[in-house]
Amino acid sequence: MRFDVVTIFPGFFSGVFEHGIVRRAQAEGLVTIAAHDLRAFTHDRHRTVDDRPFGGGEGMILKPEPLAEALGSLGIDALGIEPLGIAPKTENAVRPQVILLSAQGQRFTQGVARELAGLDRVVLLCGRYEGVDERISEHLADREVSIGDYVLSGGELGAAVIMDTVTRLIPGAVGNQNSTRQESFTESFPVSPDLSAGGPSATCGSGGLLDYPHYTRPADFRGMAVPEVLVNGNHDQIRSWRRKTALAKTLRNRPDLLERVALTEEDKELLAQIKLAQGTQGEMGQAPSLQKNRN
Ligand code: ADE
Repeated sequence: MRFDVVTIFPGFFSGVFEHGIVRRAQAEGLVTIAAHDLRAFTHDRHRTVDDRPFGGGEGMILKPEPLAEALGSLGIDALGIEPLGIAPKTENAVRPQVILLSAQGQRFTQGVARELAGLDRVVLLCGRYEGVDERISEHLADREVSIGDYVLSGGELGAAVIMDTVTRLIPGAVGNQNSTRQESFTESFPVSPDLSAGGPSATCGSGGLLDYPHYTRPADFRGMAVPEVLVNGNHDQIRSWRRKTALAKTLRNRPDLLERVALTEEDKELLAQIKLAQGTQGEMGQAPSLQKNRN
């Protein structure tokens, strides 16, 4: 998979991906990341990439010409923008997906990441200043994407978030690919025979919930004990505990997700137990060892 990032800060990406999974994925040839300096596609002495907004108002707007030229240099048709206009974007089958990062975009989700992970090539255009000339979004980009409901000073962090998230989903990038199928926001996945033969993790796909709490050694950390159920070796009980704590965590931190997931009868029963316990104990939404000590 290849990512091309168009930015006025190409140096931003040099350090970010020299670590961990994305570094390894690049070293193994699973992913290529190329940052392109938008100013290289200007033709004036000041290498101008922005200008004042038509109609007045605050701030500066990224000009369309350098962005269109940058895309042209990547072999991407710039519909309707002379002199590069060639073919409508929808008629070019091999055209890579072009994404404009902006606070006005559709929200980036794990679902969008999965979609992108299936592509060969993605081009990320980093917005800056007060905005980007709308003709880029209308005619050059396939989609406008935001990484969250807040305003960043530019699209670079968003592009980095997208590349990181998508890279983890490329087969081979993460040591144990099953782990990416069970984490938060992952819709249910079929339990493969080899998995179901194993331990309790096989039945704990997050199903669109937040991930369940995880623990590692020591079993007792400064008086905070790991939940007993996780050390007793009963896989059925562990599976049920994980589902229940995933539901409790989701109810506590992201109740909106519960409205979107298909809950099983067991889930509904577990949720009822959680709500009842919350009513009587107040803190059931957290794993036992994390419950706040109010004494
Ligand atoms: N640029 C500014 N804010 C942004 C956001 N939330 N996501 C992506 N790009 C942005």
